Amino acid sequence: MQTETSLLPPLTPKVHSWISQFISDPERVRSVIKQYGSPVNLHSTTPFIENYENYKRVLDKYELNHLICFARKANKSKSFVKAASEHGFGVDTASYRELLQCLDEGMDKDKLILTAAIKNKELIELAIKNEVLIIIDNLDELELTKKLSTELGVVAQIGLRLGGFHINGHKLYTRFGVDIEEAKNFMLDHIQQANQIQFRGFHFHLNGYSIDERAKAIAETIALIDEMRKYEISTEFIDIGGGLLINYLEDREEWDEFQEELKMAVQGFREPITFQNNGLGYSINDGELIGNLATYPYYNETHKEDFLEAILSYPTGKGEIATLLKDRNITIRMEPGRSLLDQSGVTLAEVVFRKYDSQGNLLIGLHMNKTQLFSSSADFLLDPIVLNYESNEDSEPTSGYFVGAYCLEQDVILKRKINLAKTPAIGDIVCFPNTAGYMMHFYETEAHLFNLSTNLFLKENGKVERD
Ligand SMILES: Cc1ncc(COP(=O)(O)O)c(C=O)c1O
Repeated sequence: MQTETSLLPPLTPKVHSWISQFISDPERVRSVIKQYGSPVNLHSTTPFIENYENYKRVLDKYELNHLICFARKANKSKSFVKAASEHGFGVDTASYRELLQCLDEGMDKDKLILTAAIKNKELIELAIKNEVLIIIDNLDELELTKKLSTELGVVAQIGLRLGGFHINGHKLYTRFGVDIEEAKNFMLDHIQQANQIQFRGFHFHLNGYSIDERAKAIAETIALIDEMRKYEISTEFIDIGGGLLINYLEDREEWDEFQEELKMAVQGFREPITFQNNGLGYSINDGELIGNLATYPYYNETHKEDFLEAILSYPTGKGEIATLLKDRNITIRMEPGRSLLDQSGVTLAEVVFRKYDSQGNLLIGLHMNKTQLFSSSADFLLDPIVLNYESNEDSEPTSGYFVGAYCLEQDVILKRKINLAKTPAIGDIVCFPNTAGYMMHFYETEAHLFNLSTNLFLKENGKVERD
């Protein structure tokens, strides 16, 4: 077979010890694929609990009342719900089935929250009957909630989602929530006098990953809370949603180098490092490089608990954020999805073929499709770990693209061309690390009638079990 040794910038993933231990045992990996087919999603709740405990430690350090709810939209497995319940933290639900499963698991109603973007009658009824906190997004939803709580004879527990915060002279766009400028009148006109509902607190979830924006949104919400107090409306909590950054990569230099090489490739100054020279957000306009990297920011020095601490210790003219919350006895709630799942899952897929495309690129066909590992941003930028169990010892280093089973030219699992220590052999397994948060479940489809991937959990006793 043809080989190519051109230098491609690597992006070495951070890998938790449970993953390195598991993949160091070829027999186990092979037996999992043999039993459940390819691909499989293998999880562990150990990092999930570690991530929760690290957040909790920071909140305790600032002596804040708090509730952390796992945003389960990021991964559909029930085992994470069970783990959250056993360790005393909550779950944020975004649909009827997500909420129903949590209730069926016997979760404490006070640890559940409903933030679904669309809430129909059945969903609101389920929440009201079970006294689950409902985060109200708009007036129609509030009116329906009031009507249903009157019919059911149960007071609905509600929070109000806010949006449109003012950050450094501009207003943050969102399609969600009630605009902060209209929130006071909304509260006075529709919530203050309504006895079918009990108002508990304010909520927001910001797009993007800015500490500054989150701290300023909390400060603006606190100003609203102070104003509401003049009208005898008290507020129990502020919920800051999710979006706490994680760090996927080992090395800043690799991250910087990758971005430089991508720009060079898009400008034609080096051979492509992505499929069909995809700019991942960069392009050429009139000979000029334009755009920005349109992926998740995979390398971050301030991440998870440090990111949270940076928000809490953020200075405002009236004191740091944590002090403002504590002075008012406001509980801080948060709903991390991706960051609680950091290091909690991998996707394993089997090599089915090797071939060359019409431009001479090595393609490695995997028994999976692109929806089984799909990023909502331009690409998932972590090097996979190729488990060369079957590979021929004397094969040369090479590089190539991983391709999947959908009949699309674009069914390329990762858009980056990947360095390979040797040409993978049929039956080798490719491990895509850190895919539990959004990558494995958010966009999966059953087109071509392929089965969805099986979700497995590695238990403390070393056994692998279905979710
Ligand atoms: C309302 C709400 N809360 C929490 C989250 C979780 O965000 P993340 O997974 O980035 O922590 C989301 C994500 O879209 C959301 O919309």
